[in-house]
Amino acid sequence: MKRENWNSNTGFIMAAAGAAVGLGNLWKFPYLAGKMGGGVFVLIYLAFLILFGAPLLLSEMALGRHTGKNPVGAYESVKKGFGFVGGIGVFCAFVVLCFYSVVGGWVLKYLFSYTAGNIPDFDVFSSSALDPVLYHILFSFLTFMIVIKGISGGIEKMSKWILPALFVILIILTVYAVSLPGAWEGIRFLLIPRIENIAELPVICITAMGQVFFSLSLGMGAIITYGSYLDRSSRLPFNAVVIPALDTIVALLSGILILSAVFAFDLEPQGGEGLLFRTMPVIFSQLPFGNFWGALFFIMVFFAAITSSISLLEVVVAFLMDTFKIKRLYAALIPTILVFIIGTFASLSFGVLGDILIAGHPIFTFLTILADNYLMPASAFLLCIFTGYIWKRRIVYKEITNGGRIPFRFEKFFFFIVRYAAPLIILIVFVSSL
Ligand code: PFF
Repeated sequence: MKRENWNSNTGFIMAAAGAAVGLGNLWKFPYLAGKMGGGVFVLIYLAFLILFGAPLLLSEMALGRHTGKNPVGAYESVKKGFGFVGGIGVFCAFVVLCFYSVVGGWVLKYLFSYTAGNIPDFDVFSSSALDPVLYHILFSFLTFMIVIKGISGGIEKMSKWILPALFVILIILTVYAVSLPGAWEGIRFLLIPRIENIAELPVICITAMGQVFFSLSLGMGAIITYGSYLDRSSRLPFNAVVIPALDTIVALLSGILILSAVFAFDLEPQGGEGLLFRTMPVIFSQLPFGNFWGALFFIMVFFAAITSSISLLEVVVAFLMDTFKIKRLYAALIPTILVFIIGTFASLSFGVLGDILIAGHPIFTFLTILADNYLMPASAFLLCIFTGYIWKRRIVYKEITNGGRIPFRFEKFFFFIVRYAAPLIILIVFVSSL
């Protein structure tokens, strides 16, 4: 089978930025930034993005393009015995997909509800046994339908219009939110640096680091997989700047949008799903044409979520296609059925299966902890060690510079980061989160 390719580098950027821009930007970033010292968090986040995020993104892209393989095959073909590192990434992508599609299902439900004009109570809805499961299955099915169309015909085609549409909606909503009376309080909460207690700093750093990785989709083989469909002429250092930049613009704008609206209505900025599914509906219910704004908002969230979930499924699909030489359709069907099943258990853990605990947590929470605290840091750490010590420096340099044809001014900085700084920081973050 001939390996597929992106139609253009722009198509790749849209798809990779689509993978990066997701629920992490919309519900995690605003909340974390607000809670963890406003501008202090934002500054540390930006510093980590430049110091660690962009270099690791570049490593994943280079590894993917160099080998033209799925994550397991990519590591294995550079150095025998290292395929397991890619395996951790593939497994992590699968685990994330299981809970991501449950939340994707909630987003779909709210999108339909705002269109129809009757908004459910979140606690009643999420704990019921049927509705959220059906929406989770619908969301996974939509992800499947895009992925089976392939790289240029499915993922690239969708991402190329979804991402610009998401930007347009985000800008419209942000302009509106900022014009609400009292909105400035929210912007100040987000951007003004404040730190009452210097002891909070380590926690802020750890959280910012995890957020950079999750937001850029690092450590899950997604960028390796997308990079494997890149052609030789595309400029990796350029991509490593543009993709984080787009991701960060979305995070900052959604921070401004959500916190402006929350403060304009004197509400509490809560974390996680509460922000999207409890707080935002209260705001829409008080706005003129609230159902319209609500529908627009949830279309945007849906766009963000689906382009991320297709990247997660594609990681597993690429692995299955390469390893077992099976057709894309079957390679997508197998994980999708498993996601149906495991996601259903995760969804039910908000209700009837709430008492079943794995390692002390309900199923949904267990999956998020497994991916965020263990699999992702392990895979990112090993990626650094691999690029810094195992893969020959000359070959990495050649891949990044297209055989010496394009400049790479940050060579020394890049190798310093992947060899020393990033593994050390990831290790510290990992140990302190135990
Ligand atoms: N970056 C996505 C977000 O911010 O929501 C989540 C994600 C998608 C992580 C795809 C990893 C991945 F491979």
